[in-house]
Amino acid sequence: MQTVNSSMQGKICMVTGANSGIGKATALALAQMGATVVMVCRDRARGEEARSEITTKSKNTAVDLLQADLSSQQSIRQLVENFQQHSIHLHVLINNAGATFSGRRETVDGLEMMFAVNYLAPFLLTHLLLDVLKASAPARIVNVSSGAQALGSIHLDDLQAEKHYSSMRAYGQSKLAIVLFTYELARRLQGTGVTANCLDPGFVATNIGQRGASLPVRLLLKLIWSFGTSPEKGAQTSIYLASSPEVEGVTGQYFAKSIPRRSASISYDESLQRHLWEQSAKLVNV
Ligand SMILES: NC(=O)c1ccc[n+]([C@@H]2O[C@H](COP(=O)([O-])OP(=O)(O)OC[C@H]3O[C@@H](n4cnc5c(N)ncnc54)[C@H](OP(=O)(O)O)[C@@H]3O)[C@@H](O)[C@H]2O)c1
Repeated sequence: MQTVNSSMQGKICMVTGANSGIGKATALALAQMGATVVMVCRDRARGEEARSEITTKSKNTAVDLLQADLSSQQSIRQLVENFQQHSIHLHVLINNAGATFSGRRETVDGLEMMFAVNYLAPFLLTHLLLDVLKASAPARIVNVSSGAQALGSIHLDDLQAEKHYSSMRAYGQSKLAIVLFTYELARRLQGTGVTANCLDPGFVATNIGQRGASLPVRLLLKLIWSFGTSPEKGAQTSIYLASSPEVEGVTGQYFAKSIPRRSASISYDESLQRHLWEQSAKLVNV
């Protein structure tokens, strides 16, 4: 096996949403550093195509693919079972997968789709992998949020946006929720050797919002994204948090452009962090 540099040799890294955009660029960079990469993808064919591209470009054959629909809690539980069948270690978990939709949709579990995919899926997946991460310490959890967290609010009385729905409101809530989760998680993980940080990748030209959208919406998004930065640049902060010795032991922070930044004021409210955690735990039965 030949790799560009071997700084992640011996590390097992899971990246969700690894077949496209920021996740694919993150998985490729980690493979180039010699990591064993576990790609989590919703669609096996799209996942295989990306895996083949990553192994060719990185010359690293230790790139595995696990299929999961992160909008389904049963699928997330199956994913963890499948992972644990062939690995007892996990050093880096990157909760990257995310989606936006213009209209309100529900998952098979009856939850609002963006809340479920962008926030509850990382919440559940992280919980199910915590023992493996602790046993592999030092280990890192990296949660991909968004600048949209700054515009978000947590509607504890309407988390599923049943009373009021708008795409920005639901996306903002999901991306703020993952920041609150990261801070609470980091506190709960103190002393375990497992860190948890979150990040804004910036404005990046990817496929987000396109899958399942109408042709006019797809064309509009393509135009908007043409002003965005490349997925490779957008992945830099994820890669930094996953691999840099500079952030060894750093936890409970929000990063943009690989620099710690302040997130929305409300995200530091520890009482809200706890309330959201408790409601989320009930929603995913952990
Ligand atoms: N692009 C930006 O400007 C920007 C800005 C801020 C934050 N972000 C965040 O960055 C992350 C990566 O997004 P991206 O921009 O790289 O978009 P992308 O190209 O659309 O990639 C999103 C990935 O998530 C996967 N995914 C979506 N729903 C899923 C599900 N139910 N189960 C499993 N996988 C699912 C997608 O799989 P499919 O290919 O099968 O759909 C895809 O692999 C997201 O969390 C997004 O919110 C992006």
